[in-house]
Amino acid sequence: MKRAHIKGVGHYLPENVVPNAHFEKTLETSNDWIISRSGIERRHFAAEDETTSHLASHAARAALKDAGLEANDLDALIVATSTPDLTFPSAATMVQHQIGMTGGFAFDIQAVCAGFVFALANANALIVSGTAKRVMVIGAETFSRIMDWTDRGTCVLFGDGAGALILEAADGDGTAQDRGVLATDLNSDGTYRDILYVDGGVSTKTTGYLRMEGKEVFRHAIEKLAATAHTAMDSAGVTSEDVDWVVPHQANIRIIKGTAKKMNMPMENVIVTVQDHGNTSAASIPLALSVGKAEGKLKQGDLVVTEAIGGGLAWGAVVLRW
Ligand code: UT7
Repeated sequence: MKRAHIKGVGHYLPENVVPNAHFEKTLETSNDWIISRSGIERRHFAAEDETTSHLASHAARAALKDAGLEANDLDALIVATSTPDLTFPSAATMVQHQIGMTGGFAFDIQAVCAGFVFALANANALIVSGTAKRVMVIGAETFSRIMDWTDRGTCVLFGDGAGALILEAADGDGTAQDRGVLATDLNSDGTYRDILYVDGGVSTKTTGYLRMEGKEVFRHAIEKLAATAHTAMDSAGVTSEDVDWVVPHQANIRIIKGTAKKMNMPMENVIVTVQDHGNTSAASIPLALSVGKAEGKLKQGDLVVTEAIGGGLAWGAVVLRW
């Protein structure tokens, strides 16, 4: 049976690192509050002239280098983002051009913070169906562009960045010992539209700002993330004991810990980057994968579970062997 193996990974973070103290100057907030309620210590913000496609292209080049491939070795390129440079064309076609990929196809996926998991599941489907042999999946965001800087309940939480993963078709024997993507689980429920959304877009002729009922999202997050992770693990035929690494969406250390507990996973087996990146939405999982590999944690053969939830609500999980 065909499997989508991981060939390479890379990431990019804008130069400008913003510590929590930055927000103490303009808002009634504190470094202590931000750390204790979210685990975030700093985040990166894109420069004025840096767009989502620029961040994504940097990450894409890093992943190509890691895989020892050229842009034209790719058949397809997917960018998961809710903050594309323009309404259209897709950020993915902009990245395709910027990295010098002259064939194949490129498109965006929009599932907010769950975007990378949705894109990874779709890339896997393209490979398993024989539609593409090598697919780059990028999560890239510039959430700093949709922050209301007067809203302390949201603006201290988010950051900018990009991560990229390259998948390649390979043969497997259909067991959980195979390398590559083993199982995916995707979900959404539009009844929760109003607890996490942007109050602008094409219909308002504005870009808008992110609005969130943090407590409500938090409540859904722990329950739904553990459930989707278990569904994906069941469908891969693995249990928590088999898992080497959980690589969760990095929104809040309390959500990460609560979900790990529900999954019976010790925190030593969870890759955590939220303290350095904040919540980078669709970029957070590929950023954590890339950092995890660079730190020598993720090794070939390791069993990995990724899980994410975001606006929609949309949530899901992917089980893969590195
Ligand atoms: O990635 C997409 C998914 N998003 C998430 O997963 C985010 C989920 N939600 C969360 O991470 C948490 O709910 C937050 C970090 C957003 C907030 O933590 P919380 O423990 O749920 O706090 P809260 O919203 O209940 O607020 C507690 C208090 C409130 O004051 P009162 O009403 O008790 O007087 C807030 O006004 O903290 C206040 N507060 C702040 N205080 C200082 C809210 N933001 C801040 C702030 N600094 N930045």
